[in-house]
Amino acid sequence: MEELFAICRTVEIDDGQASGFVLMRMDDDGEPEPWPILITRKGNNFYGFENVCPHQGERLDATPGQFMDEEGNFLTCGHHHAQFDLDTGHCFIGPCQGQKLKTVTLVIDDGDVCVTGVKLFDEDTPGPDDEPDAPEIMITSD
Ligand code: FES
Repeated sequence: MEELFAICRTVEIDDGQASGFVLMRMDDDGEPEPWPILITRKGNNFYGFENVCPHQGERLDATPGQFMDEEGNFLTCGHHHAQFDLDTGHCFIGPCQGQKLKTVTLVIDDGDVCVTGVKLFDEDTPGPDDEPDAPEIMITSD
């Protein structure tokens, strides 16, 4: 079985909302690189995406942690206001209409939202500091 990395508890993300995290993954040279992702929730389903807008490669949350449109229905890029479905990451309006956020594979394990299929550095691995606005997270692996 693939290694699981717990990112947060399921109860920490409200239905219809999104939360952002900056993980540290291994690049092709085995070096740590910051990896911003976001996790959305619709009912009891959770969806993971890379926090990279298909339009210009910016993080969606121009204001850190702010992912939703004013009505709170869709993911919105804070730069040029592309809007994305919470469950598919599909952009239905905006400059990257028709494109999609890149999917991150999630597994729910005993109430934890976990990512899998990537090599992440854990907190004991030396690496560059997380971005200052990123929420502090504890990564554990099974
Ligand atoms: S960078 Fe996201 S809409 Fe332009």
